[in-house]
Amino acid sequence: MDSKQSDGSQSAAPRERPQSGDLPDHVAIIMDGNGRWAQARGLPRIEGHRRGVNTVRMISETCTELGIDAVTLYCLSSENWKRPQAELDFLMHLLEQYLIEERRLIMEQGLRLRVIGRRDRLPPNVLAEMDKTLEMSAGNPGTQLVLAVDYGGRDELAQATRRICNEVLEGRLEITEIDEQTVENRLYTAGLPDVDLMIRTGGEMRVSNFLLWQISYAELWVTETCWPEFSREEFEQALRSFASRDRRFGGLSVGQ
Ligand code: IPE
Ligand code: IPE
Ligand code: MG
Repeated sequence: MDSKQSDGSQSAAPRERPQSGDLPDHVAIIMDGNGRWAQARGLPRIEGHRRGVNTVRMISETCTELGIDAVTLYCLSSENWKRPQAELDFLMHLLEQYLIEERRLIMEQGLRLRVIGRRDRLPPNVLAEMDKTLEMSAGNPGTQLVLAVDYGGRDELAQATRRICNEVLEGRLEITEIDEQTVENRLYTAGLPDVDLMIRTGGEMRVSNFLLWQISYAELWVTETCWPEFSREEFEQALRSFASRDRRFGGLSVGQ
């Protein structure tokens, strides 16, 4: 199926596989368009969420195969609580099911699970399955699979600020010592590499409160394809596009 890319090109048959030297260390994905995918087919929105789990599996398999260090998936934003209770209940059910049913695959693939976001608004049964998978996979050597659940970039920065203030008040940190690393170390993502590539499915050209600090120099890639239909071919196309970018980080191109 043809789909239009952010660079205006049409998706084509995959060419060569991405080369490991050009791969991003950290890919972040806004998995959007589940509801629209379902509604376009006369299905309830939740069917789109259910089908989206297959795409999550494809992403974790591909990242494992290619040896990508970390992939962060936006599962629920701090703003998504505005949705109807029935949809939220289904999303929680799906997350719990995913944590149980994918545990075997996570272990087989050597993935290390990590979860970022607030824990206090999640149901206890979800937290229990989450902790079980986190504990089981903690020593795995493979790709870090980071799930952003009840995550908001502004919330993350506010909690980092609270932590820093507490440390100053308790005399463990000097105000003059506060630098970018101080903030970075107190984010939910502490220790993860910066996001190199941010992908959004579903076509919206916005960031929706995702990883605001971490995407400072991320390369962006947006596709109209909705998450349930996002394929390995298209993911590899995004990786190839990333490999061709001239990342200047505010400096000049090599040789200029
Ligand atoms: C993304 O799909 C998944 C979540 C936000 C949980 P949406 O549910 O936002 O799907 P659209 O954007 O309405 O199509
Ligand atoms: C972003 O999608 C959040 C997730 C994919 C989990 P939304 O559908 O919530 O974003 P907006 O509302 O279109 O900005
Ligand atoms: Mg959406």
